[in-house]
Amino acid sequence: MKLEEMQLRKTTTLESGRVRQFVLPGGKIRITEITTFCPDFVGPGPTNLYLIDGEALVLVDAGIPTYLAKAFFYHWRNQPMPKEVELLPPDFSETQLLEGLAIAGYSISDIDLLVISHGHPDHFLMANAVVSRSSASVSTHILDTPAICNPWGMLHMWFSRVDQMRSTGMPQAKTPEELIKEDTLRGLDLESLGVQVRVDAPFFRDGPLTIKGSPVRGLEVRRLPGHSPGSVGLIVGDDGDEKVLICGDVLLNTITPHPDDLLVYLQTIDELGRLDGIGLVLPAHGKAIRDLKGRAAFLREHHRDRLKLTYDACRAPHSVWDIATTSDYFDTYVNPKKFNYLAGLETLVHVEMLNMVRGVERTHIQDEVHYFRNRGEPFEEVYGRVMELVKDRGSRALLRY
Ligand SMILES: [Fe+2]
Ligand SMILES: [Fe+2]
Repeated sequence: MKLEEMQLRKTTTLESGRVRQFVLPGGKIRITEITTFCPDFVGPGPTNLYLIDGEALVLVDAGIPTYLAKAFFYHWRNQPMPKEVELLPPDFSETQLLEGLAIAGYSISDIDLLVISHGHPDHFLMANAVVSRSSASVSTHILDTPAICNPWGMLHMWFSRVDQMRSTGMPQAKTPEELIKEDTLRGLDLESLGVQVRVDAPFFRDGPLTIKGSPVRGLEVRRLPGHSPGSVGLIVGDDGDEKVLICGDVLLNTITPHPDDLLVYLQTIDELGRLDGIGLVLPAHGKAIRDLKGRAAFLREHHRDRLKLTYDACRAPHSVWDIATTSDYFDTYVNPKKFNYLAGLETLVHVEMLNMVRGVERTHIQDEVHYFRNRGEPFEEVYGRVMELVKDRGSRALLRY
């Protein structure tokens, strides 16, 4: 039997508001996708939330409230806010969630469990809107709980990267001192950004999803690290039938997720490329993926190409930001004079990877900025060592997570 798909509402505003349903083979499990507002260009685009209706009602991800999306993606990062975003009411994403549930015939109070795919703000900051209106418990991987449960998690995430970002040579956005001194962020005080979410039952290992200790049929948790330490996917479906993978930000379509640790991410992609029996992948942003192995292969090649661009750029000593702003390094223009967190981080993880396999070496540090040069070997030899590490499962033990 094949998977059925139907659209219940088209996109309404800024690529969000769409409601779709997928009925799994056998008809016992139904997944509703609700697309909620999160900005494009400065952010990853609208967040897809998935409600799995089977033995229990499980919501995967909670999205980001519109007022916090405005603060986090525009004000903190010094980005100009388009008029159409400015005009959105503060509770716009929340309304989209409630409407989406109603269109599909559900009420928020029916939700038994909220699973947060990982600890990035566009996935959990609206969790309290779910928890306060239902008796849902909350689960996420133990390794991402610090970002989610700590009331200062958002600021911690921001501040923990400040020295690293300075070492890239990127122009700085706001220093921690400046951010702290601003007692309001255009109407939002810092304490209101401390959105603490209670996690009732963290995931410690792969296996059947459980609610209050009882396994839920047809739902399996799998850790897929690399985009964040505790990123998880849910494999949905009964044995013998084609299954669905709800994957958070681990695989996206059409953008490419930013790896937090490239080696771990490439290992996860390698594992996913060998996973059989998945007929559909539902990511947290963008379009569904029909060909898991094809998308995994595309992402592996994408990072190979980026490693080669990085390696070639280091013929002479270059900073990470020099490389990020080389023409053709990114598809879109990166302004060398403006802070760009994602461009800096994406380039940094590729330099780190090349440094790890001794393809590039750090030549010097000037004004806190680090410079790297390649050792003049053929790139294929360097990439061969990257692939050796990717295949070597023991290499994970050497890493941060
Ligand atoms: Fe993410
Ligand atoms: Fe995301």
